[in-house]
Amino acid sequence: MRKILILLGSPRKNGNTAALAEAFSNGAKESGHEVTTYWLGDATINPCKACDYCQRNNGKCIQKDSMTELYKLLQNHDTIVIASPVYYLGFPGSIKNVIDRTYAESVRGRKIKYSILLTAACKEDSWVTNILTDYYKELTKYIGVENLGIVSGRGVEKPAEVKDTKWIEEAFQLGKRI
Ligand SMILES: Cc1cc2nc3c(=O)[nH]c(=O)nc-3n(C[C@H](O)[C@H](O)[C@H](O)COP(=O)(O)O)c2cc1C
Repeated sequence: MRKILILLGSPRKNGNTAALAEAFSNGAKESGHEVTTYWLGDATINPCKACDYCQRNNGKCIQKDSMTELYKLLQNHDTIVIASPVYYLGFPGSIKNVIDRTYAESVRGRKIKYSILLTAACKEDSWVTNILTDYYKELTKYIGVENLGIVSGRGVEKPAEVKDTKWIEEAFQLGKRI
């Protein structure tokens, strides 16, 4: 059984990435996995200060914000799902801040061994999401995490519009088979 942490990166709590995350979660739960969802819309996660305090202090970050709670969750799960809208061809700042702040985890040792990417974008063209998915794939290699799959929903703009598309079933099936 996997312990799955879903990082929900859209400020729209009932938006398209939330719908993809829910479908994935339903599939994963059907297969007996434990799922925790963490919504970044409620959180305050500041950028990494590059002060290197964590590098000198066994991975302890000097900043006191929502990352304190998230570090504990990251240490307590083996699989992460990044559920994110595409913002100007990349991740929104909230997700990028989390990624950068895991610099502290590089000292303690990352417990997350597997990852999944779920994305939503309003444009239909694949090049719009390829930049983000290519970055994600290289990132998993860079930090030594195994990519278990990607669902890249396109052509969805209004909140939860994705519910009428094939991407929902794809997310559900991915959750079920991992
Ligand atoms: C600041 C901002 C930047 C965006 N940039 C892009 C983009 O580069 N490409 C794209 O296809 N959609 C872009 N979008 C649209 C969202 O990715 C799209 O509406 C998505 O479905 C939102 O997901 P959500 O409902 O989970 O928030 C942008 C939206 C916002 C608010």
